[in-house]
Amino acid sequence: MSINETPIKLEKFSFTENQLTIIWSDGRTSQLAAIWLRDHCQMPQSRDPVSGQRLLNITDIPVDIRIANVAQNDVMLVVDFAPDSHQSEFSISWLLDNCYCLNVQMDVRSESGKKLWQKSSFGGKLPRCNYDLFCDSPDSKQSALQSFKDFGFVILDDVPGNEGQVLKVINQFGFVRETNYGPLFEVRTKVDANNLAFTNLGLGCHLDNPYRDPVPGIQLLHCLQSSTTGGESILQDGFMAANILRDENPQHFETLCRQWINYRFQDTNTDLHSRVPMFETNDKNEIIKVRYNNRSIGTLKLDPDQVTEFYAAYRHYAEIIEREVLQIQFKLNPGELMMFDNTRVLHARNGYSKGGVRHLQGAYSDLDGLYSTLNTLKTKTLRLAD
Ligand code: OGA
Ligand code: ZN
Repeated sequence: MSINETPIKLEKFSFTENQLTIIWSDGRTSQLAAIWLRDHCQMPQSRDPVSGQRLLNITDIPVDIRIANVAQNDVMLVVDFAPDSHQSEFSISWLLDNCYCLNVQMDVRSESGKKLWQKSSFGGKLPRCNYDLFCDSPDSKQSALQSFKDFGFVILDDVPGNEGQVLKVINQFGFVRETNYGPLFEVRTKVDANNLAFTNLGLGCHLDNPYRDPVPGIQLLHCLQSSTTGGESILQDGFMAANILRDENPQHFETLCRQWINYRFQDTNTDLHSRVPMFETNDKNEIIKVRYNNRSIGTLKLDPDQVTEFYAAYRHYAEIIEREVLQIQFKLNPGELMMFDNTRVLHARNGYSKGGVRHLQGAYSDLDGLYSTLNTLKTKTLRLAD
């Protein structure tokens, strides 16, 4: 709630055996089922007071649980249950924060929890944060991580140019996700490279490592040297592209959600396989994850009846991704680090000259650690405002 918003108050309530109904001062209504209320009891018999974790099991709750009485006691609603004569107190602020009707936005991963973007969305001003501020100012870190959550990426400026610095950046918000490439990987031209990323070739829009289970949720690329011609970075909002696909051809969208496909990575020491859909959706059919990487699609095991439809949908999404109006392009300079949501924001690079040196260090992390840091920073900010 922002400081100027009028706080929502409990206007009135009523109950039946099966349900408590609350009417709030803004006119909205919450309907809370008896079984839900009993299961969410906040009393010390039901929850450990220190960890807040549930002590009761669903099988401990009588199958015919019902509401016997509800009374208001200052900032609490006191609910008596039958047949077990259990009494629960719910604070009105807890009910406000937790009832379904007022909190339908429940999934931070889904498209509805994000700000979808295209090239024109930023007016040339990309979400950025100075690295010293990121480390030393909780407000700056919170707003950088919020940009990451909203747009799926943020660029950090003036990051020290030390080897291995990318791992220290991760320690500022989460945990390093080590892979067969090591804790970090060197993105520069190599002889006999085991990945096209380690050549000077251009790379089309992709998400990294769809052959892993789970896929790393965050990728970081830190520029140490860049004196080649070319090698510009490109980012593209995969959720926006998926939305466009759904508008242009709902059947194609559905196909990429339902058809599982094969990804693979193999070198002398590693052999990774996955079978997953290109788009993952939640229970509201909102997109929550994209996996797209033409380089690492394995042998596609497709039912013969599905082949034509899959390729039409795949081609359509690939064409949308290449639309310039959806892409932002910039040169990552030494001292700059970009971090992006590897389940949403596709990245690409232009090919670059053999003369000069281009050296990035990359690493992976996971989204849950970053969101946890952001949630903790937000809670502290709210406490300070109280
Ligand atoms: C990668 C990659 C992009 C770049 O290493 O995964 O896509 O800018 N690199 O070199
Ligand atoms: Zn990549």
